[in-house]
Amino acid sequence: MSQSIKKAVLPVAGLGTRFLPATKAIPKEMLTVVDRPTIQYIVEEAVTSGVKQVILVTAAGKSAIENHFDYSYELESYLEAKGKYDLLEEVRRVTNLIEDIVSVRQKKPLGLGHAIYVTRHVVGREPFAVLLGDDLVDAEPPCLKQMLEVFERFKGPVIAVQRVPKEDVSRYGIVAGEKVGDGIIRVREMKEKPAPDEIDSDLAIIGRYILIPEIFDYLAKTEPGVGGEIQLTDALSALKDDYPVYAYEFKGTRYDAGDKFGFMQAVITFALKHPQLGEKVKNYLKEKLKELE
Ligand code: UTP
Repeated sequence: MSQSIKKAVLPVAGLGTRFLPATKAIPKEMLTVVDRPTIQYIVEEAVTSGVKQVILVTAAGKSAIENHFDYSYELESYLEAKGKYDLLEEVRRVTNLIEDIVSVRQKKPLGLGHAIYVTRHVVGREPFAVLLGDDLVDAEPPCLKQMLEVFERFKGPVIAVQRVPKEDVSRYGIVAGEKVGDGIIRVREMKEKPAPDEIDSDLAIIGRYILIPEIFDYLAKTEPGVGGEIQLTDALSALKDDYPVYAYEFKGTRYDAGDKFGFMQAVITFALKHPQLGEKVKNYLKEKLKELE
C-alpha cells in the first residue's frame, strides 16, 4: 500500500516561556533528552511512520534546529581526520535522517493554528501530519504510525487523544463524541481549554494530528480564541461540522516535554531505555531512592 501521508508539519515557532530561563537563547526543541534534542525524536517518529518531507515552522532564533539536520562539514571532516568513526556515523545518521526538510517562517507567534496556516502553499492540497515538539510519545509502533492506520480506515482527520484527570481538563483541548471503533471516536464536540463543566469529557488532545487540506480554509476564517491565539482546535471544531473528524486514543505514553516536570519524566524514562546507559541509570536511581527513604 502506498503511503498516503508524505508531509509532516512541525511547528517550532513558539517562545517556550514555560521553560525559561533554559529557552532564553536556545529553542526548547533543542533541549536534550539523554543524548539527542527533543526535535530529533519527533523527526525520527515522522520518518519511521513513512513521512518523506518535514516542514518546520520556524521563527527568529531557531536556526539551531535547521542546522541539526544539515551537514556540518567542519565537524564531519574533523571527526574523520581524528578517526572517530563511531561519532562520525552518529552525526551522519542525523544528517541523513531526512533528505527533504524545508522551513517556513511564522513572522509572529499568533498561535498553533496560524503556525499551520503559514505552511499552506508548501503542503498544497493533500492530507498531512502535524507533530508538536512538546509532546514526546513513547510508543511502539510510533504514535503517528498508529494514527495512519485509523486515517486509512476512516479517510478523515485524526487527532491523538489521551485521558486526563478531571482537574487537568482546562489545560488541554478536549474532545467528546461517539465510539466508532477500538479507541476511536467520531468527534461531536471540541473545546480549547474548557472550564471543567463546559464539556463532559476527559479526552485531551495531544500534539499529533493527521489533517486534510480543507483545514486551511477553516484556519483562514478562524478568529483569535483562548489566549488571543489562532487555535487549531477552533478551526477543527468548525471543520467537524462539515467533515467527519476522529479522535484516537493511541497506545503509549506521552510526555509534555515543554513543561519542566514532564521533561524530567521523559529524561528518566528514555535514559532507563538507553542501551548503554539504562543499567547505570537504574542502579543510580535505586541508590537515590534508598537515600530518600
Ligand atoms: P505551546 O503554547 O505549547 O508552545 O505551543 P510555546 O508557546 O512555545 O510554549 P510556552 O507555553 O510559551 O512554554 C504548542 C506548539 O505550537 C508551536 C510551539 O512551538 C509548540 O510546538 N507554536 C505555538 C508555534 O509554532 N507558533 C505559535 O504561534 C504558537
